[in-house]
Amino acid sequence: MSAQAKRQILLSRQEIEVTVGKLAAEIKIDYQDKNPLLIGILKGSFVFLADLIRLLNFPLEVEFVRLSSYGRGRSAPGKLKVVQGLHTQIKDRDVLVVEDIVDTGHSAAFLMDYLRKKKPASLKLCALTDKPSRREVTVTIDYLGFTVPNKFIVGYGIDWDEKFRYLPDICYLETEKILNTNL
Ligand code: IMP
Ligand code: MG
Repeated sequence: MSAQAKRQILLSRQEIEVTVGKLAAEIKIDYQDKNPLLIGILKGSFVFLADLIRLLNFPLEVEFVRLSSYGRGRSAPGKLKVVQGLHTQIKDRDVLVVEDIVDTGHSAAFLMDYLRKKKPASLKLCALTDKPSRREVTVTIDYLGFTVPNKFIVGYGIDWDEKFRYLPDICYLETEKILNTNL
């Protein structure tokens, strides 16, 4: 079977557009006079962040961080660290972290703790998707797009092994099939 045949659309580009619009409207109310710093977590958030900021027509700044974890499997989180860090002071700034998916919660929890120590004026999390069935640590998501089932999702910037980021819809892959196939 081809890789094409194994993808199912979970969230269409139209649904994503509507939801990103709603998130932008909420964020605009809360941040329009605050010149916030939006911090995207690389790489998965870059498409979402690009769409989001074009709906936020007020002054804001953008930064990216990249996390890595060693010895990480889907069931066992490795030790997380920031491998590409901030180039902007966040002390006394209103910071909004933008993530593609909160799964076990380890990445988001780690980054929020890391940023909180730098004493921003405020710190909130916006996640396009949330997979609560896999949560291992508590994470507060202040702005959430979609709750997704316990499936491996790709598309709209989200990858499987660097593949499928280009898909305009969010699709799911059957895990047992992707593990057994060279896509
Ligand atoms: P967490 O630390 O387990 O919450 O995982 C967060 C990161 O794992 C996300 O930012 C994604 O990069 C990746 N991830 C988790 N679930 C999926 C998925 O279903 N598809 C693609 N990447 C995922
Ligand atoms: Mg990610």
